[in-house]
Amino acid sequence: MTEEMSPIDKAKFVAAKRAADFVEDGMRVGLGTGSTAAWLVRCLGEQVRDHGLRIRGVPTSTRTAELARAVGIEVITLDEAKWLDLTIDGADEFDGDLNLIKGGGGALLQEKIVATASDQMIVIADIGKEVEHLGAFPLPIEVIPFGLQTTQALVEETLISMDVLGRDSTLRMNGDQAFVTDEGNHILDLHLKRIGNPRQLALVLNQMPGVVENGLFVDICDKVVIGFGDGRVEVRDINEGTVAQDRIDFPEADNLFSDLAD
Ligand code: 5RP
Repeated sequence: MTEEMSPIDKAKFVAAKRAADFVEDGMRVGLGTGSTAAWLVRCLGEQVRDHGLRIRGVPTSTRTAELARAVGIEVITLDEAKWLDLTIDGADEFDGDLNLIKGGGGALLQEKIVATASDQMIVIADIGKEVEHLGAFPLPIEVIPFGLQTTQALVEETLISMDVLGRDSTLRMNGDQAFVTDEGNHILDLHLKRIGNPRQLALVLNQMPGVVENGLFVDICDKVVIGFGDGRVEVRDINEGTVAQDRIDFPEADNLFSDLAD
């Protein structure tokens, strides 16, 4: 399996593998969504099966819930957990303050609820996700189906007065149908190019009727584990102000993750 992995997949894998070290016995863990988070779920499943790690996981999507159950992680709801020790999730972009754009996989609403209900959030990402300014990746916002086009027009109008470089938006599609989130909503992707003030934009977007949540995560992430294609990992802790380097060896013959679909 590892021979066939691209450098980006290797980077995602090593970030996830290193982040799994932060999960301790007995923890209630928020499980993110996306290809990097899927590596994490696999790594944790291995720890559960082979090393007796006891954790309860709160998935951020039906996809992640299915994968977590398949690899042997006990899955509970957020309301059963009430509060989480740690959430580990991927991101589409992160900046030097560990502000994030998330939602490329369409799960931003559950991801933000889960991350906010956690003592700590760790982001796992390949080095290509680091940016100086957020916004090159289109910002996803979750909107309710009722009055969708009116909401879209209102969002674009509001963006005129925001510190952004673009204000076009597109409705995310799944084939010829509008993409539907786990909560039955749709996603608008905002093509902003550069977001000058993520905190202000996040607040303004969430004031708008019809907008359920936006993919800007401001002051939520505590650590980022950055993976490189050659096996290096870097752990940056925004609270401690520390940076630590490490290296993860790729397993020689590893078919553990061969059925990974995400
Ligand atoms: C899903 C997300 C993902 O974490 C984000 O899109 C990154 O995905 P990947 O790890 O596949 O690059 O926010 O809603």
